[in-house]
Amino acid sequence: MPVTEKIELQDPTLLRDSLFIAGEWTPSSDDSRTVVTNPATGQVIAEVSMATAEDVQRAINFADSAFKSWAQMTAIARAKIMRNWFQLTLDNVEDLARILTSEQGKPLAEARAEIIYGAGFIEWYAEEGKRLYGETIPTNVVGRRLLTIRQPIGVTAAITPWNFPMAMIARKAGPALAAGCPMIIKPATDTPLSALAMAVLAERAGVPKGILSVIVGNPKIIGGKITSSSVIRALSFTGSTEVGKKLMADCAGTVKKVAMELGGNAPLIVFDDADIELAVNGVIASKFRNSGQTCVCANRILVQSSIHNEFIEALINAVAQLKVGNGLNDDTSQGPLINEMAIDKVHAHVEDALSGGGKLILGGKRASIGGTFYEPTIITNVNEDMLVSREETFGPLAGVIKFETEEEAIRIANATPFGLAAYFFTSDLGRTWRVGEALEAGVIGINTGLISYEGAPFGGIKESGVGREGSLHGIDEFLEIKYLCIDGLTEK
Ligand code: SIN
Repeated sequence: MPVTEKIELQDPTLLRDSLFIAGEWTPSSDDSRTVVTNPATGQVIAEVSMATAEDVQRAINFADSAFKSWAQMTAIARAKIMRNWFQLTLDNVEDLARILTSEQGKPLAEARAEIIYGAGFIEWYAEEGKRLYGETIPTNVVGRRLLTIRQPIGVTAAITPWNFPMAMIARKAGPALAAGCPMIIKPATDTPLSALAMAVLAERAGVPKGILSVIVGNPKIIGGKITSSSVIRALSFTGSTEVGKKLMADCAGTVKKVAMELGGNAPLIVFDDADIELAVNGVIASKFRNSGQTCVCANRILVQSSIHNEFIEALINAVAQLKVGNGLNDDTSQGPLINEMAIDKVHAHVEDALSGGGKLILGGKRASIGGTFYEPTIITNVNEDMLVSREETFGPLAGVIKFETEEEAIRIANATPFGLAAYFFTSDLGRTWRVGEALEAGVIGINTGLISYEGAPFGGIKESGVGREGSLHGIDEFLEIKYLCIDGLTEK
């Protein structure tokens, strides 16, 4: 299918449509291609090569042969290359943001923020690589010394989602490369262009051939090759719990280390002592960022009954100001959803809530501009049995549940198999600790709806995943601890 919409860039060489394997830009071995569309317009913005199983194997083989020399470089030398990559990313933020918005839909301001956030992981881990300390252990035997070293795990792979096409790659590749590991990246087929642009900049930064590969293609073919490969020692995945479980099972055959950042069903609790304005801002940031398409989106908004009406009024005022439109327009705050399936899911949640007694306050339908745009929606009178409470909506629907007591709010918040993020708003210090400790989630935002930062650990508990990304913990996913026991030392 021919390209029907051109992405205007200052540096058009950032836009690639082939695979990046062994440091070369190459078409797939059977010349198959996939179409990338702009979800805001439905127009074709690129036709990208789809890797075959043979292409994936080539990437694995080359990464394997490149591993040793990258691992043996000093952390200082690796950091220098990574800092070049970080700087080139910042230098190209406008172009990268345009590519990201064109393939994913989010407003340009959010796309710029994502690029800067993502670049932060590359910079942060470039430095952290210099601090991969081991330890000495007091000996248990005379003439013996005990110590540990931390070593790169080997060739690694990342499977990344469409909702953050750049930052989720940086969050995985940053620590992997800093640890001394090559990484093979499979970006989402809907949004491969940001990943390919990142590879262009990595190449320019001096990342050696084979240390970073980007292979676009069929998830089953690529996933199958990655999970069954005994060369690949770690897989980092961001995506749905359903796919994560399957990948974990498939990785068992080669006993790979897995880091899984999976689905969520985040509660956001507004207590009666909360600053209402702060809480409304928190809902806008957490619920409506990326039109509700983040894993950490507030999915269930719990409001204490004594402030319910006041809060809803303030929320209506704020949500009514959100502007739906093409993310490339400066005044847009809500872009399109990724595809028709996403629209269908949001609408099913709306219909289910309304049929169960939910009260529609705002939105509740496709936006009048057509396409995959959905109106920012508020429904009150939501209960725990409705789909919106049980499943991740992944769209701009704020379902509000009324509660009476702190105990009830905690019970409802924890009544889910998921445990990625949770939020609450309070001005009571005792409650801050009590509720912070009681909520079952890996990431808790208190008086804020925005919690992401490269220096802090991100990840879920329960069925929201295993492992952590970001912070000093995120690099452990790509390292092995080796214990050295040195005996036969002469004591004088
Ligand atoms: C996600 O949705 O998984 C990422 C959100 C973030 O990093 O802020």
